[in-house]
Amino acid sequence: MTPGTAISFDQIVASEDKFQLATYKKMAIAAERGEGVWIYGSDGQKYLDLYGGHAVAGTGHCHPHVVKALQKQSEQLLFYSNLVYSETRARAAEKLVSVAPAQLSKAFFCNSGTEANENAMRMARMFTGRENIITFSGGFHGRTADAISATFLGKYREIGKPNVPGHLEAEFGNIQSVNAVADESVAAILLEPIQSMAGVRTAAAEFFRNLRDICDQRGIVLIFDEVQTGIGRTGEWFFAGSRAADGVVPDIVSLAKALGSGVPVGACLVTDSVASKIKENDLGTTFGGGMFAMAAVIATLEAIEQDQMLENVRRVEAHLRERLKEVEQVISVKGRGFLLGLEFAEKSAPIHKALLERKIIAGTSSDPHVLRLLPPLCLGVEEVDLFVDVLRNCF
Ligand SMILES: Cc1ncc(COP(=O)(O)O)c(C=O)c1O
Repeated sequence: MTPGTAISFDQIVASEDKFQLATYKKMAIAAERGEGVWIYGSDGQKYLDLYGGHAVAGTGHCHPHVVKALQKQSEQLLFYSNLVYSETRARAAEKLVSVAPAQLSKAFFCNSGTEANENAMRMARMFTGRENIITFSGGFHGRTADAISATFLGKYREIGKPNVPGHLEAEFGNIQSVNAVADESVAAILLEPIQSMAGVRTAAAEFFRNLRDICDQRGIVLIFDEVQTGIGRTGEWFFAGSRAADGVVPDIVSLAKALGSGVPVGACLVTDSVASKIKENDLGTTFGGGMFAMAAVIATLEAIEQDQMLENVRRVEAHLRERLKEVEQVISVKGRGFLLGLEFAEKSAPIHKALLERKIIAGTSSDPHVLRLLPPLCLGVEEVDLFVDVLRNCF
């Protein structure tokens, strides 16, 4: 390929396939440009993005406020490590803590969701002096050693063999199954409050209250993996503290994905109590808290506020649920806000394909009957109407 000269879609595919490991099944799109809920391919085609690049594009693609903040930051300072103070980092941490439930008073920045979970589990072990972690069948927590060992979903633990010891499995939504394993060896209970990849599985609010009670009674740290549910996706800043959680606030929340609008950044939010046990050098990462990522965090949170995206998610979710009643093939709509699972009696893969042929990007899940929607939080009713009309045409 000659630098500076345009190349065809086929050449892009050939080159990517030649020079990269074949670890992803890709859609036949070469994404070139994005704006709000739209992605433009190298061939000029326009796609409605109901997947947000794995739930990352929370503020939509290239939100002007985020782009401007990143342009400004990149001219000022791209990076310096945690060995110096930074106004941008100070503002990012303060802003993030300000939108979180009051009990979550301190942030630790890292680079991804799996890393946030690794650090969350490590903090729980440090805090309790215990080793075991309870996670749930169907939960996904990432692909690094400890996180993949905590992932009782499909083939993932197998990929991560030999697994890190000290991981116990319970059944999501079943408090008896937690009771049975939550003994004095357990440092933490870690869960996705909505199990996204498993097919957008939810649990009753009472389940979260019961988990909180078990943790309080037995000195166990409660961790919500809000890598997907956090930063506005459910129509609230976090699942933690929401009505769906019966107001339960965990001791640690892990975050990533939408937190940086596409700039890689992860975080753990922790209570004062957990923070009090974490000392200098207990945790660390070179890139965590870098200025470019921190500028992305600030601008992301500001954009969500300025454009009233939380309200938008709730309003547009209601409209989508209403309109989906017209599609008889949709037998249930699972999830909350813009983390939705459309369940079909038939397999969803052909529907996913038919949507893509009609220029709509949706997501699959590990439940073959569930199609996942994780759109930008700025998705509007017009785009929902377009989606439902197209979906009806797919059958
Ligand atoms: C709930 C959840 N936790 C953790 C992760 C891992 O995040 P990352 O891919 O940024 O490491 C993911 C990624 O899909 C996720 O969905």
